[in-house]
Amino acid sequence: MNSVRCLRRVALVFMAWTLTANAFHVSQAAGQESPADQQSPTSPATPADPEQGKHLFAQNCAPCHGADAGGGDGPNLHGVPASLGDTTVQGIVRRGIPGTAMPGSSTLSDKQAANIVAYLRTLDSATTSGPATGDPKKGEALYNFSGCSACHMIAGQGGSIGPELTRVGAMRGATSLKARLQDPGANLPQVGDGGAFGSRWAQYLMYRAIEKNGRVVEGMRVGEDSFTIVLKDAGGKFHGLWKPDLRSLEKEPGKSFMPSFKDTLSAAQQDDLVAYLMTLKSAQ
Ligand code: HEC
Ligand code: HEC
Repeated sequence: MNSVRCLRRVALVFMAWTLTANAFHVSQAAGQESPADQQSPTSPATPADPEQGKHLFAQNCAPCHGADAGGGDGPNLHGVPASLGDTTVQGIVRRGIPGTAMPGSSTLSDKQAANIVAYLRTLDSATTSGPATGDPKKGEALYNFSGCSACHMIAGQGGSIGPELTRVGAMRGATSLKARLQDPGANLPQVGDGGAFGSRWAQYLMYRAIEKNGRVVEGMRVGEDSFTIVLKDAGGKFHGLWKPDLRSLEKEPGKSFMPSFKDTLSAAQQDDLVAYLMTLKSAQ
């Protein structure tokens, strides 16, 4: 197990507990108790509205955690309220996780945070549709035979064209991992250029440049200014292009350097691979 993560969870639960306790004292001191304060953290009677929570999630969380909360820059959130508890998750939503990229949303009310958690709860049951049913041992062998390590790093071993997979099992659900194997580019989180959330996924977006002399260069953008753009091609070679020399320069959303394994691996093999990836939870 990843003890750092465990410790952090304990700390988060404690933090949420202190916050609830404080809120309780404040409302007592003010001589008034709102209905929310009377509920125990496990109260099943929370009149939360998952529909509103879904909208709030789309606006505030999806850019990092993915449209279906299956993971993006932030981890997969399926099953998280069940393991951390609703109160803790609400505390995380309001206050963020200090020292990480998880921001607090001071503009969301307690009620809104509760609605988001209610929405996340509705996803818990959906997770069971894609459990890691495969054999992780076979999956590890497949990983080594399929050339994955040419592009991916696990615990310091492998290439760096694609994202590091050392903790991918802690960050993603089985369903989202399988989708990535089958249709890599299509499942790239949609990211704009330097949008409000500036995403690391932007680096995997493919560009296609055609020079006036007809030469075509395709690759990931590793640098750009007003006059030049640098693309890294599938072979890892860098191409510095002078923009005035280009006939066209287009983004290719939906494309990825990662090949699809939909047809090259059987369904059972894909499940084995996913089962292996799900074991990757911490830097050893
Ligand atoms: C800017 C990106 C970003 C946004 C926006 C964001 N998160 Fe996060 N979130 C993260 C990252 C990164 C982590 C992992 C932090 C860590 O532990 O290193 C995280 C962690 C979490 C966790 C803890 C998961 C666990 O298993 O420990 C929860 C719960 C969570 N986020 C919920 C939300 C919700 C709900 C929203 C919207 C209100 C939201 N986040 C918005 C990036 C984001
Ligand atoms: C030619 C390079 C290349 C090869 C080979 C390759 N990948 Fe990838 N992979 C990428 C790139 C680039 C991305 C990021 C863009 C994307 O998701 O399409 C990626 C993304 C991923 C992700 C998503 C990571 C995340 O954080 O969500 C997983 C999982 C993954 N690859 C697994 C594999 C496995 C397993 C194999 C072997 C069966 C493999 N890849 C082979 C380049 C590659």
